[in-house]
Amino acid sequence: MKVLILVAVLVAGTYATLTESEANSVKTSWNLVKDKEDEILYAIFKENPDIQARFPLFVSKNLEEIKTSADFKTHADKIVKAISTYINLLGNEANTPAIKTTLNELGQRHKDRGATTEQFEKFKVSVLKYVKEHATGLTADAENAWNKAFEEMYKIVFANLSGNPVS
Ligand code: HEM
Ligand SMILES: *[C@@H]1O[C@H](CO)[C@@H](O)[C@H](O)[C@H]1NC(C)=O
Repeated sequence: MKVLILVAVLVAGTYATLTESEANSVKTSWNLVKDKEDEILYAIFKENPDIQARFPLFVSKNLEEIKTSADFKTHADKIVKAISTYINLLGNEANTPAIKTTLNELGQRHKDRGATTEQFEKFKVSVLKYVKEHATGLTADAENAWNKAFEEMYKIVFANLSGNPVS
């Protein structure tokens, strides 16, 4: 019994990349929205003022006023680029070490800035909502693939936030 529980815990903590076909449906739909960096960050902040409040540059500012600023554009580009880097690595087992490195770095940078797992979950909800509303023709399979992409991404990011490395 104890052995079974141990195995279950180990499996839950193991990183898996997406299949090639899952990865392709994420890539195809992301390509339809990824040039809308400002709109994506706007949606995230609009739906989560507590996330906006974590940014020294944007805390206590009116979202409608900052959304056209250069700082906003710069940060929107950074976030979208980080997501693109991860998505581009998906669907190929050989990229697993690169995925772990890039997501550990992302986790570490956010740990230093006090981002919580709850805020990451809300960030995910906003991004998925944006993709669903703007990537025309998103299938149920594609939506499942997106969920898996975030789940696997967050295994590594959260492991880094908590200080227990993922296997
Ligand atoms: C998948 C989710 C996320 C991605 C891909 C992402 C991406 C990034 C990137 C690429 C940077 C720039 C890093 C740097 O310049 O060193 C950054 C900075 C930052 N992120 Fe995130 N982020 C995510 C989620 C979050 C969440 C949930 C929060 C919640 C509070 C957050 C808060 C911040 C803050 C405060 C900064 C620092 C901004 C600054 O120093 O000017 N991020 N993020
Ligand atoms: C978190 O990421 C940093 C930077 O990549 C890395 O040095 C550290 O070992 C990681 N921590 C865990 C628990 O994975």
